[in-house]
Amino acid sequence: MDKYEQVIELAKRRGFLWNSFELYGGTAGFYDYGPLGSTLKRRIEQIWRETYVVQEGYMEIEAPTIGIEEVFVASGHVGGFSDPLCECKCCGEAFRADHLVDKIVAVADSLNNEELDKVIKENNVKCPECEGDLGETYEFNLMFKTNIGPGAGRQGYMRPETAQGMFVDFLRLARFYREKLPFGATQIGKSYRNEISPRQGVIRLREFTQAEAEIFIDPNDKKHANFSRFANTVINLYSDEGQDREEVEKMPLGEAVKNGIIAHEFLAYQIGLTNHFLQRVGITADKLRFRQHKKDEMAHYAIDCWDAEIETDRFGWVEVVGIADRTDYDLKAHAGVSKTELSIYREYSEPKIVTQFVVKPNMGKLGPLFKGKAKAVADALKALGQAELEQDNITVVVDGEEFTVPGEIVEFADETVKISGENIIPHVIEPSYGIDRIFYSTMEHAFEEEMVAGKEDTEEEARIVMRLRKEVAPVQVAILPLLTREELINPAKSIEIQLKQKGLLVSYDDSGTIGRRYRRNDEIGTPYSVTIDYDTLEDNSVTIRDRDNMKQIRAPMEGIADLLHELIYMGKDFESAGKAL
Ligand code: GLY
Repeated sequence: MDKYEQVIELAKRRGFLWNSFELYGGTAGFYDYGPLGSTLKRRIEQIWRETYVVQEGYMEIEAPTIGIEEVFVASGHVGGFSDPLCECKCCGEAFRADHLVDKIVAVADSLNNEELDKVIKENNVKCPECEGDLGETYEFNLMFKTNIGPGAGRQGYMRPETAQGMFVDFLRLARFYREKLPFGATQIGKSYRNEISPRQGVIRLREFTQAEAEIFIDPNDKKHANFSRFANTVINLYSDEGQDREEVEKMPLGEAVKNGIIAHEFLAYQIGLTNHFLQRVGITADKLRFRQHKKDEMAHYAIDCWDAEIETDRFGWVEVVGIADRTDYDLKAHAGVSKTELSIYREYSEPKIVTQFVVKPNMGKLGPLFKGKAKAVADALKALGQAELEQDNITVVVDGEEFTVPGEIVEFADETVKISGENIIPHVIEPSYGIDRIFYSTMEHAFEEEMVAGKEDTEEEARIVMRLRKEVAPVQVAILPLLTREELINPAKSIEIQLKQKGLLVSYDDSGTIGRRYRRNDEIGTPYSVTIDYDTLEDNSVTIRDRDNMKQIRAPMEGIADLLHELIYMGKDFESAGKAL
């Protein structure tokens, strides 16, 4: 069993992850989160909220998970969100063509369909399922389609990213933030991608949870007001050039910006924040690196992009967060399709006196001539230059129709005007998190099979311990009455109530031997177990056991909730928290 199998086996057995639709045989690309899995996932999401919504101030919104066609035409997903699909002519199984040849060519994902077919043919690649011949590669759009309304309805799509919700709401958000840059909005929610043949378990899902922030910034000011927070933070950077040398450099973010490795401070700050978040939820620091997209792999909307990658046992380095400078691509695209200006007005600190070429069509005369089209004709005239306006008859095209305007009804001149501001289209910095991958990596990095001293040779004596960070653990304290006797159950229940009132996640467990109960809790990552025994009745004290080193202390029942809260959230030292046993 490799580590992935071990973690997934435990995850299934203990109620973290289950194959979806198991009752009906299941289908690839979907997982259910069981009771402990859902809780762990929410803990991770809650820390994300605390980081981005509370600390950074990027308020959360909630847009529909179904989108109308116009949104995804503008975003480019209808036209270009596809993977190369290749089907077996014999058994009909579908494959990602680039995945079929990624052991043959290093840059399989940058080949076009013809190039992929050539590699398949020249290397006699066959169907991995039945050895049959493969058909030609074609583009398969990854969006799930649906109809909005009955019958043919209106074409809708399940959103492939939460990001578009923030772009579509841009004008509302700008007003909410009183048009002051930078501002941002976040969403945590489901996104959908109809992956061709997901074979990487929980790493590649067809329905998955994203946590995304879209931060709108001044295109002329990509500095970050709080950059000093991360300027000295040393990050594992795998830059575009570093990848050519296969060298990951440990470098402070300030230096990376100064050297031009990271495009600007705002992006670098987001890398620092992501690094901070991932370690806070339990990702091991030396299994975390930031890889810059190479020029030819960058998404169509980005000018610089860094992926946070986590090292996993089976899948190697896995992308879990993408941090991109999306420029003004999205706002311009939606402005184009919606025919609405998506910009914000920025007032200058001092008004500027400028000379402007001003065109003044005579509306009193344009109206009777062009009726309903007069305004559009006037707007078209305003876009012309002096040479085009100096004609006896000026020609403009509106909605594909040509109009001739007599030159004498259009005035134009250079005028000196005072302008107090301008409309600018913000640029967007986007940290985009794949929560499910982070969830899995958190479990894998926490997972440990530890040989118990003196019993190394006996497999059953291996202790499986999930060293989850205390603040993400789905159960923070196990309450274990030594025996199922009323005199022990009563104080145990009273402790359970006190801990719950303190907001701690508690499980009451009275079945099986105490040793078994400790093991059960080690496996699910419970940081502390509290045992209530007959001494408790004598001296009102309980045993607290530390998951990580199995040490035990004796502490008074009174104030137990405060003590455990401090141990879990305030970094209180365990051994000095009570009398060592
Ligand atoms: N919003 C970026 C992504 O979904 O990949």
